[in-house]
Amino acid sequence: MKTEPTVPLIKLLTEAGAGSRRKMADAIRNGRVTVNGQVAESFNHPVNSSHDRVQIDGTPVTLSVENPICLMLNKPKDILSTTFDERGGRTVLDILPEKYRRYRLYPVGRLDKDTTGLLLVTNDGELTNRLTHPRYEHEKEYLVQIEGKLTVVEKQQLEGGIRLDEGMTSPARVKEVTARPFNYSLTIHEGRKRQVRRMFARLGYRILALKRVRTGNLALGDLKEGQVRELTAREIARLLER
Ligand code: URA
Repeated sequence: MKTEPTVPLIKLLTEAGAGSRRKMADAIRNGRVTVNGQVAESFNHPVNSSHDRVQIDGTPVTLSVENPICLMLNKPKDILSTTFDERGGRTVLDILPEKYRRYRLYPVGRLDKDTTGLLLVTNDGELTNRLTHPRYEHEKEYLVQIEGKLTVVEKQQLEGGIRLDEGMTSPARVKEVTARPFNYSLTIHEGRKRQVRRMFARLGYRILALKRVRTGNLALGDLKEGQVRELTAREIARLLER
């Protein structure tokens, strides 16, 4: 049987774009790097680039550097934006077409279980680092269904900032829409946990349906719930524009 080649851990980390050799050496020394869940003890720990699971501070590092991939998914309701659920819930990985199962994919960011819409799924650690870096803080646009109509003052409150437990939200845009069942769109710059639901809850509204339709310059378009498509190199480059 053909055995797959291994490479020293530090080589793999630097080639995967996780950071400079010096930074990666520090990360290993400080016990921040794990291989298959075990803290790596040596720079030269042999790793198999297609089977071993390497993480820095819990974030997966792309091993298949030759073949990074980034998918856009329209997440359906009740699907979890994680790679594994201890309670046996269905995750985004469970609904990907078979041909993507061989990649070590994970979602970039999160959508609540009840939220539908645009979620990126990738195996590309460097792309993830860049997309989640505060300097790329993308606008995120959500369609929201609430019962009733916002008053002028409530709309201004959403746009000006809502006080949540951890502080004020930054300025947002609110538009009335007729995209049944949704009646508003809300564009925010942050990605705090359950942010949109908590913003509306502060004003006394329960969100009946929530869907993310855009992140930065990438729109969900007519991708149907449960469908997925690969992003083009151009779309990825545009996402990384500042
Ligand atoms: N805001 C929410 O409340 N939920 C999401 O899933 C995303 C943004």
